[in-house]
Amino acid sequence: MFNKSKKNIAIFASGEGSNAQNIIEYFKDSDRVNVAVVVSNKKDANVLKKAASAHIPTLVINREDFYSTDNTIEYLKQMRVEWVILAGFLWMVPDNLIKQYSHRIINIHPSLLPKFGGKGMYGMNVHKAVIDAKEKESGITIHHVNEKYDDGEIIAQYKCVINKGDTPETLSEKIRALEHQYYPKVIEGII
Ligand code: GRF
Repeated sequence: MFNKSKKNIAIFASGEGSNAQNIIEYFKDSDRVNVAVVVSNKKDANVLKKAASAHIPTLVINREDFYSTDNTIEYLKQMRVEWVILAGFLWMVPDNLIKQYSHRIINIHPSLLPKFGGKGMYGMNVHKAVIDAKEKESGITIHHVNEKYDDGEIIAQYKCVINKGDTPETLSEKIRALEHQYYPKVIEGII
């Protein structure tokens, strides 16, 4: 539920939600940040189960509502949400939401942007492309969200080395570890 003395955040996620869960755990006892709601575009996404077991309210959005009405914004306002945190959210954020939360929507991307970003670059697609390109390093980018995919102002980047034997799978584990280590701390810092 929303909290009057803390900064309320909403986490938007479409899938597994390991980052969402990690953020929820990080802020569980925080006196500054409260995870007020988890929003997903997929009604059977695992992230919703994780939120529910942490007793966090959830909202499932549909395309029509999200892109053609202000209903999501109204809901977030009711929940006193001040920041929107994307953690594996696969839909483009509509203009009305970007305007309402100007500079208060943050995303995490599993590569060193501007490399390996843009439409279609998500999940294992990113790590396969990085390995195919024989990159020596990869990493994560935490950035503000604007009206284009993976294009907003960069807040922070963290790198990892790619070794000879690395595969998309082993790279994804290194990246996941970086995401879990840094995303909550960067959110806390910027909020
Ligand atoms: C993460 O790799 C994140 O960088 C990207 O989507 C993935 C979400 O993973 N935006 P999870 O659902 O948090 O496990």
